[in-house]
Amino acid sequence: MRLEPWPHDEQAAQLVVLDPDVVPTTDELLGWADTARERGHRLLRTSALSPPAAAVARRVGFVPIDTLALLRADADAIRSAPRPTVRTRPLRPAHHERAAHLDRAAFGDPWGNDAASFGRIRHATPIHRSRRIDVDGRIVAVAVSGAGGATGYVQRLAVHPDHQRRGLARALVLDALVWMRRRKLTAAYVNTAVTNQPALALYKSLGFHLLDEQLTIAELDLAAAGADGTAP
Ligand SMILES: CC(C)(COP(=O)(O)OP(=O)(O)OC[C@H]1O[C@@H](n2cnc3c(N)ncnc32)[C@H](O)[C@@H]1OP(=O)(O)O)[C@@H](O)C(=O)NCCC(=O)NCCS
Repeated sequence: MRLEPWPHDEQAAQLVVLDPDVVPTTDELLGWADTARERGHRLLRTSALSPPAAAVARRVGFVPIDTLALLRADADAIRSAPRPTVRTRPLRPAHHERAAHLDRAAFGDPWGNDAASFGRIRHATPIHRSRRIDVDGRIVAVAVSGAGGATGYVQRLAVHPDHQRRGLARALVLDALVWMRRRKLTAAYVNTAVTNQPALALYKSLGFHLLDEQLTIAELDLAAAGADGTAP
């Protein structure tokens, strides 16, 4: 696990669980809560937790703030993805500031990225493909995808509200699937809020199917919780 700043909110920190298959212990979570408190944070939010990890977090006082649906595209869906008809370009570190700006406009607070968190998302997997779409010289849509082993991940996808419903997200996800095909990946995963109907419709239309498992983002109020996770 790793503690990172929460974008655009100095009071909050993010506890990133790097390996989704590892279930943290209550002592580990309380240790990270102490560290975050010592660093002056008031809130500690987790990355997406598996059901067993979320259960441990709840035991030490974390409260779920978002439930994520997990979707998977199998090898067939990856193989049959057509090339996008909209041109995508590389997203480079020099674009992170502008990409983060549109990401924040698309997701809204507290979920929007800043330039630094955008960079961290790109490096969350051993290899990645990061693309942008420009309209009139402005970045209006971005996607970060990655791969580890034979598995691909759509890590982040955002289209500026002024440019939605014009096929830009479809183009970016198709670009990611074509990239995964070239790398001979056999499955792709993506998660999104269970309430995010636009994203769910988009992913399903591209061959992703919903899995039973849901993920949880949870938050701990560090001011209210004592060192043992209970109210002081
Ligand atoms: C979700 C999001 C990326 C879609 O981007 P977009 O460029 O508007 O999507 P597209 O125009 O490529 O739409 C492709 C398909 O997705 C579905 N879709 C997209 N927006 C939709 C909406 N508002 N309502 C219902 N379906 C929608 C439709 O099936 C659509 O196909 P159609 O237009 O032929 O009906 C965009 O709304 C966004 O950035 N939202 C905020 C951030 C976010 O949710 N990111 C992804 C989740 S991790």
